[in-house]
Amino acid sequence: MKKEMVKSIGVLTSGGDAPGMNAAVRAVARTCLNKGIDVYGVMLGFKGLHEGQFYKFNRHSTRNIINVGGTMLKSARFPEFADPKIREEAIEQMKKIGLEALVVIGGDGSYHGALELTKMGVNCIGIPGTIDNDIPDTDYTIGFDTALNTIVDALDKLRDTSGSHQRCTILEVMGRTCGDLAVNAGLAAGAEIIVTNHTGFDEQKIIEQLRLSKASDKKHAIVVITEHITDVHELAKHVEEATGFETRANVLGHMQRGGRPSARDRVLASRMGIKAVELLEEGKGGLCVVQHGEEIESEPILTLFEHKRQVPQGMYDDVLKLR
Ligand code: F6P
Repeated sequence: MKKEMVKSIGVLTSGGDAPGMNAAVRAVARTCLNKGIDVYGVMLGFKGLHEGQFYKFNRHSTRNIINVGGTMLKSARFPEFADPKIREEAIEQMKKIGLEALVVIGGDGSYHGALELTKMGVNCIGIPGTIDNDIPDTDYTIGFDTALNTIVDALDKLRDTSGSHQRCTILEVMGRTCGDLAVNAGLAAGAEIIVTNHTGFDEQKIIEQLRLSKASDKKHAIVVITEHITDVHELAKHVEEATGFETRANVLGHMQRGGRPSARDRVLASRMGIKAVELLEEGKGGLCVVQHGEEIESEPILTLFEHKRQVPQGMYDDVLKLR
């Protein structure tokens, strides 16, 4: 028997926001409307799904958002969604307006919800939206490029003052447990030392390297470190005491999550939004959209859970080559 075509699709953003999420929402909405599929924005992620916070899109709903950071649909973390009863209630809310399928834009935490809903009969497609770039099997996630450029901009500014005062500057960046932001930003901004979960944290090694830098007549130094590894203010004190390098620590924080999405993020988000709708149209669910080179593809969410993101060692080696 021929499967009925999907008639109504919802789109939500979940977890930490990321620049470019709006471009993805816009692409989902426009692709649906162009195909004659009803499309709803779901406010506040899975929380809004559970509460029935739906907003029917028309052609004007997503205008002037392609260039705007944050998410027009708002986002929330909603651990309660792990409870099957809460998910049943969310499905009931969807049935009330005839909502058949969902596009879930967010990090891997959001993919759990998407997979569980698919198992319960609601086809869901995940789109990777997170600045961390910590999702396996996709070259990039939406928001990573913009956040990276924000960090590089901050590092350029810190370099100015670090140079003027002949200081060592330590910058803590986001990424959760993933070092992609730190290593890419460090390479782009000419940092001496990168510390991530991949490199491991060895305070004595950092101090030794900075001593060597000072001895080789380097006037200032930049250290980039992923969050949750150590207290960077304490590290700054230890470095200053041990090396004589006057040292300052900075935590860049949530400004990494905001700002006008880069062209690269907008392109990625637009292409992934289109792909997600095409997959739902084909009657598929439980998949996530991924980027492989120039291609936008998909793979089972389950497969992705079995993998771990591999940060290329070569990137770390290259930082050392340019020290
Ligand atoms: O996942 C995105 C991210 O910004 C991480 O880099 C960071 O660890 C976390 O979210 C911060 O979460 P919150 O916005 O809840 O403080």
